Amino acid sequence: MPEHTYTRVGFFSGEKIPLEMHKARMVQRIHLRPAGERLAVLGSTGNNTFLLPNRDVFLDMLTDRGVNAMSEAQYAAMLLADDSYAGSETYYRLEKTVLSFFGLNYFLPAHQGRACENILATAYVSPGQYMVTNYHFTTTKAHITRVGGLVRECVSDEASLTQSTNPFKGDYDMGKLTSFVDEVGTGKIAFVRIELGTNLIGGQPVSLANMREVSAYCRSKGLRVVIDASLLADNLFFIKTREESCRLRPLEDIVLDIGSLADVVYFSGRKLGCARGGGISLAHEKDYRKLRDLVPLFEGFLTYGGMSVREMEAMNVGIQETLDIDTISQTPIFVEALGEELQAKGVPVVTPFGGLGCHVDALKFIPQVPQEQYPAGALCSAVFLVGGIRGMERGTLSEQRNADGSEHLSSVELVRLAVPKRVFTLSQMKFVADRLGWLYEHRDLVGGLEFEDEPETLRFFLGRLKPIGDWQEKLVAAFLKDMPSGL
Ligand code: F0G
Repeated sequence: MPEHTYTRVGFFSGEKIPLEMHKARMVQRIHLRPAGERLAVLGSTGNNTFLLPNRDVFLDMLTDRGVNAMSEAQYAAMLLADDSYAGSETYYRLEKTVLSFFGLNYFLPAHQGRACENILATAYVSPGQYMVTNYHFTTTKAHITRVGGLVRECVSDEASLTQSTNPFKGDYDMGKLTSFVDEVGTGKIAFVRIELGTNLIGGQPVSLANMREVSAYCRSKGLRVVIDASLLADNLFFIKTREESCRLRPLEDIVLDIGSLADVVYFSGRKLGCARGGGISLAHEKDYRKLRDLVPLFEGFLTYGGMSVREMEAMNVGIQETLDIDTISQTPIFVEALGEELQAKGVPVVTPFGGLGCHVDALKFIPQVPQEQYPAGALCSAVFLVGGIRGMERGTLSEQRNADGSEHLSSVELVRLAVPKRVFTLSQMKFVADRLGWLYEHRDLVGGLEFEDEPETLRFFLGRLKPIGDWQEKLVAAFLKDMPSGL
């Protein structure tokens, strides 16, 4: 693949090093607790990394959502916010940006991504109807099933191969899509969703060519196309650098193309735009009018949608900064650097490297732990024990149980180590690789988890688990032998 000089400056030494195209002018002090303390806090928070207080976390790699470093232009814009219940100037600025960004005709604000999903599910999905998607996202599926809908995935078979060379593992399998539509009929399908930067399979992108195919097919069948653009920034970087026909195209043209393929685009502004909010952009007046009335009901008046005006200003600038390749390159090139460090230590990671974060394959890392004992969750707890590193389980724990109460085993069991934009340094990534390298050498010590308290919906957020046996104590004892300081 030819190098993009604007994203990767060469080093005379020949080393491949991701280079920051920004400098840090404000920083946050973080603390590394010793392993004994980490064990205690993990136990008291139900072995769930969502429940860890940040003060006990060294490197917070839970998510890139709402925790990307904002630019000085974003902070400056926050000072200009126009605060009013109705008709805020801030809103009009944001609306103008979103409409010109995606090239669509209408905009509805919402306070975050899943709020958009709530509106879409409420407006479009009747009981028994399907949302077809390349791959589901946790909150998306929960909103669809909440209103009695069903989810059908049509992602390419490569999606479940954690090691692959396919540059676009998030692509739809057109055969699966067309035969499913033939099987159930278009009347049973509420909408067809394309999730950019497919989250749960390792931040894997969707190609523009595939989006075109899906959209053309859906239009021929009269099916509504909804694009989830929350992870657009990473996906856009991959389209630009991996899709031959797009290498020379300006980013703004590619985004306009994406917008033109959709009837509805929604996004989490905590990801796209690096602020805290969300929104829905629409092509057709009919859809706008249908969804519009739900915004004041669930979110707030149409000119703020539950967001603070300061965050709307930051999001406005952040969305425009998505068109800067040196900005959107930062997560992918740091994910790649971390992934290569991990690979060098033998740690099984998802390839090709995707966006959002580096994804460790728990099934390959700890094959001794069966899926019913949540290997990705167990490995996540072990990663915290050996490094104070907070990752996120993306596997069976993040799934909903089937309607009959049985476990829905995930097609992949991943520990996601998110790499929020411009937050971590290369030495911190090397620390992560070092600790995971140690853990890999001691992988036989890792055991499973079981629920102590299992919520009915989105159980991964608030569920509490405990280790099966005393493997965590043994792991910490082995760590202390090699690292007597416990740090
Ligand atoms: N869609 C995708 C693809 C997402 O990644 C997310 C959030 C949402 C929708 C929901 O947006 O959080 O603003 O309500 N992903 C977060 C993550 C939670 O950590 O990956 P939200």
